[in-house]
Amino acid sequence: MKTVPIVQIGLGGVGRVLVQQILAHREALASRYGFRFDYVALADRASLRARRNGLAVPELEAALAAKAAGQRLSVTGGTAGMTWRSLALTQTSIFVDVSAAAGHHQALAERVTAGHRVVLANKKPLSADYPAFQALTAHGATRYEATVGAGLPVISTLQGLLDSGDTLTCIEAAMSGTLGFLCTALEAGQPLSAAVREAHRLGYTEPDPRDDLSGADVGRKALILARTCGLPWAPEQIAPEPWFPAALAQVSLAEFMARLEELDAPFAARVAEAQTVGGALRYVATISAVGASVGLRVLPSDHPLASLRGPDNLFSFTTARYAERPLVVRGPGAGQAVTAAGVLADLVATARELVAALNV
Ligand SMILES: NC(=O)c1ccc[n+]([C@@H]2O[C@H](COP(=O)([O-])OP(=O)(O)OC[C@H]3O[C@@H](n4cnc5c(N)ncnc54)[C@H](OP(=O)(O)O)[C@@H]3O)[C@@H](O)[C@H]2O)c1
Repeated sequence: MKTVPIVQIGLGGVGRVLVQQILAHREALASRYGFRFDYVALADRASLRARRNGLAVPELEAALAAKAAGQRLSVTGGTAGMTWRSLALTQTSIFVDVSAAAGHHQALAERVTAGHRVVLANKKPLSADYPAFQALTAHGATRYEATVGAGLPVISTLQGLLDSGDTLTCIEAAMSGTLGFLCTALEAGQPLSAAVREAHRLGYTEPDPRDDLSGADVGRKALILARTCGLPWAPEQIAPEPWFPAALAQVSLAEFMARLEELDAPFAARVAEAQTVGGALRYVATISAVGASVGLRVLPSDHPLASLRGPDNLFSFTTARYAERPLVVRGPGAGQAVTAAGVLADLVATARELVAALNV
């Protein structure tokens, strides 16, 4: 049986579900494809648990239990202060980044240059400078389906269109579950302050809701889509419209939450304006060769994005081939299980390539 070593960076909500999914499907994958995933290392932000010939199931389960309890990997035999960057690997391995960390795109690119492969749910390595994106994605070395739309087939659909000779006219997308939830609440007549507090309470927002309301996450996804189309854009070329004024960007989280009511009147006015023309207010990313816009837009009621409700995502690809009616991908664009499944599908596709290359 061939083994495919995995180094996993991040053991948060998605990372822990990914380990569980791999353990649950490992035997089925072995009998279907003749390889077996072996975890040679797990990393959180401050420690590393590694074993050259693969961590045993009880070791993985202990690591999951420790992380679920909010502990460091070092409490279950990991080494505090050590990171995946220092790992010496003798076999071609897959680095799977399910962290939310910034700043290690260069280290991942070096692993790609050394012949290893990368699978990402983390958007940040692909939304740093363009040369880093190129280095990471050279020769298809990195798969990143889960960075945009979680488990939905967004990147693979776009790549399939382009690889088969189609040309992009534009992508229109609503790709934040959190902001979609807020748009639906606003349309139902809720004040923005109440909707944000409810989303915060339900865990739909980041701990600081401004991380969602700034639009930065949508901006990163738009940049990844643009770069997937071959557009060599710098991060500054996409400027998402924030949901709050600059004055509220600098205050503490507690003060921001206390001052949310200041946003109610302006948002009520925007909803009323949309409803006057029979339209729908949506947070939309539009990407074409000439540029991208990311912000709140009033859409006509027959627009595909106007029919969206709640946290679902929708991606509409208008191309030379799909000119009259766009190709649409729609569904849940967040959630630990669907995101981990998107990552696992990328891992399996990458492992199959590695195993096929060994057989050549
Ligand atoms: N949740 C979703 O629905 C969804 C959908 C699509 C994409 N994603 C992306 O998937 C990633 C993971 O999401 P999540 O919800 O699992 O996040 P999370 O629960 O916040 O977990 C993040 C994990 O990353 C680890 N980490 C942070 N900095 C690190 C570093 N420098 N080196 C190594 N590990 C580090 C954290 O370590 P500690 O445990 O030590 O804090 C934690 O284990 C994010 O990039 C997110 O944007 C999530």
